[in-house]
Amino acid sequence: MSRAPGVSVRLKLTLSYAGFLMVAGTLLLATVWVFLLRYVPDHARLGPGPSSPTRTDLLDAFAPRAAQALGFLLLFGLVGGWLLAGRMLAPLTRITDATRIAATGSLSHRIRLEGRSDEFRELADAFDTMLARLEAHVAEQQRFAANASHELRTPLAITQTLLDVARNDPSRDSSELIDRLQLVNTRAIDLTEALLLLSRADQRSFMPELVDLSLLAEEATETLLPLAEERGVTIETSGDITPAIGSHPLLLQMTTNLVHNAIVHNLPEGGAVWVTTTVHPETVALTVENTGGDLSPQLLATLGEPFRRGTDRVRTHHAGVGLGLAIVKSIAQAHDGTLALSPRAAGGLCVTVQLPLAPPSAGRNDPAR
Ligand SMILES: Nc1ncnc2c1ncn2[C@@H]1O[C@H](COP(=O)(O)OP(=O)(O)OP(=O)(O)O)[C@@H](O)[C@H]1O
Ligand SMILES: [Mg+2]
Repeated sequence: MSRAPGVSVRLKLTLSYAGFLMVAGTLLLATVWVFLLRYVPDHARLGPGPSSPTRTDLLDAFAPRAAQALGFLLLFGLVGGWLLAGRMLAPLTRITDATRIAATGSLSHRIRLEGRSDEFRELADAFDTMLARLEAHVAEQQRFAANASHELRTPLAITQTLLDVARNDPSRDSSELIDRLQLVNTRAIDLTEALLLLSRADQRSFMPELVDLSLLAEEATETLLPLAEERGVTIETSGDITPAIGSHPLLLQMTTNLVHNAIVHNLPEGGAVWVTTTVHPETVALTVENTGGDLSPQLLATLGEPFRRGTDRVRTHHAGVGLGLAIVKSIAQAHDGTLALSPRAAGGLCVTVQLPLAPPSAGRNDPAR
């Protein structure tokens, strides 16, 4: 890190300290001088004896002492100022060192400045907090990249194996091969689309418009009705106009993911799903509740992370990629909202997305669809 050589803060503080001491010393000596003059007449030998001092005598006696005193003050000011400034600036050196370490890419170092709370301590604590958040964020990104590459490699590896088998055994039925290849390919496309959607939601690159969540709930339910019927799951939708501001396609995707989850991660038979939208004073909520197996709180805490899947995948025959809830979370956060998961007492899950209520000025009578 190169910068033009300048006067260091320590030197500046030292010079200010010594300068201030010199000014104070000079003023003090000047006061003493003025005070002394009062008692010494300004013309020579007016006094009774021949030994009466004159101003010149006084100046001769006073000036060298005053110069000595000022010299001492200068020395004292420079040394004392240098030491004091060093002590004062020591925390800054630690903060600078930590910043340099962080700049090299090592985010695990912390300053952990001890002592009473002052401006430096606040700066160091804020810096430590920033480092901790950055470290967690980078770790999450790395995990995500590793998982995404792994998931993307799997269909390609399966395709490779299927092609190898077909080449080594040309007499095999090719229609079966084509079916399996198509299945694997579809899955790879789904995964790539989900990843694209996730990055789009994270970037917040959408045009906000007025959206009625209750209409989205109906739309999503209608689309997924065939899947629900196939799995013997009933769906109930309720709620009046629920105005929010955001991207219609993203919020529809969010609702669809939630209803889809509620259908596929449900009881093997006789399952039920309830989709409700509600308006609160400052927020609106979309709640999707479903019957199902018991879910442990530990599992619930991690389900919103990308590529997390529960343990019921085999039973429900739903080979998801584990991005559905991560996408819901990203979309909710991109709309300044939150996602909350809570287990139902009777088994199953209750998922609630809260979004800010659309302001009345947003033309609620004409919700965009
Ligand atoms: N409504 C729900 N009821 C019970 N479990 C659920 C529900 N929603 C999600 N889960 C659990 O959370 C896990 C993660 O859900 P998520 O939607 O992220 O992935 P997925 O459904 O497995 O795959 P996909 O990416 O295709 O959605 C699921 O595997 C499931 O175990
Ligand atoms: Mg899902």
